[in-house]
Amino acid sequence: MLIAQLSDLHVCSDPTLSAKNIFAERAIEAIWRLKSRPDVVILTGDVTEFGTAEEYKLVGRMLSRLDMPIYPIPGNHDDRDRMRAEFRQIGQLTAGYKLLNYVIETRPVRLIGLDSVIPGRAEGALAQEALDFLDDALAKERRVPTLIFLHHPPIMTGLESKDGIRLFKGADRLVNILAGHPQIERIVSGHFHRSIQARFGNTICQVSPPVRYMTPAERGDVDEHEIDEELPGFLLHRWIETVGLVTQICPIPLTGGNLSI
Ligand SMILES: [Fe+2]
Ligand SMILES: [Fe+2]
Repeated sequence: MLIAQLSDLHVCSDPTLSAKNIFAERAIEAIWRLKSRPDVVILTGDVTEFGTAEEYKLVGRMLSRLDMPIYPIPGNHDDRDRMRAEFRQIGQLTAGYKLLNYVIETRPVRLIGLDSVIPGRAEGALAQEALDFLDDALAKERRVPTLIFLHHPPIMTGLESKDGIRLFKGADRLVNILAGHPQIERIVSGHFHRSIQARFGNTICQVSPPVRYMTPAERGDVDEHEIDEELPGFLLHRWIETVGLVTQICPIPLTGGNLSI
């Protein structure tokens, strides 16, 4: 099984900002060209820049090049209801609920998406509804290796610009829930706009690089939103029965390509 993870596409329909959609186009092109076709694509939030209906239509058109199932969860730049309207499969999975928490019963790896957004805030939280959902979902299937995906990483990084916007509320109970479930292979997220990994509870939290732009977190002399010097990227998670989940960081070139959507 091969899972592609795109994070922080920040697709924008405002013509003054939309030139940077080229990164999302290149990332989608890179997935389309892969020799091994991913079975599924997960989008770990900040799919759009402003959460407008036009942006969801635009990103939907861009992603229509890919013919595998695509499952997004929201980030702080997204709008839950508009995301639900554009990605109908998510609408069906979460019908009757406010938050976008859901399980994809794929095999050999089961996927659980969690909604960590606090509307209007950059930092994240897991509400009781999300934590109860996770607890129930894990209790229902204890043997299948499971990947949890959400936007806000629950880990400390030591980087001032990241630690103020991480997942705060709910992180302690998340550790307790994970403790009873050794089937959890990994937690994957986005939001930090850098590739970062750390232990979290009894598993590993892996933060995807962004599709749109990297932030130079270790440099104090630059405005992090104006710098495009480092390569953005995406993750490919391959399940190998004798090993577990093996993750590649795939850089997206900053130059070349002139793709139209
Ligand atoms: Fe982002
Ligand atoms: Fe974010």
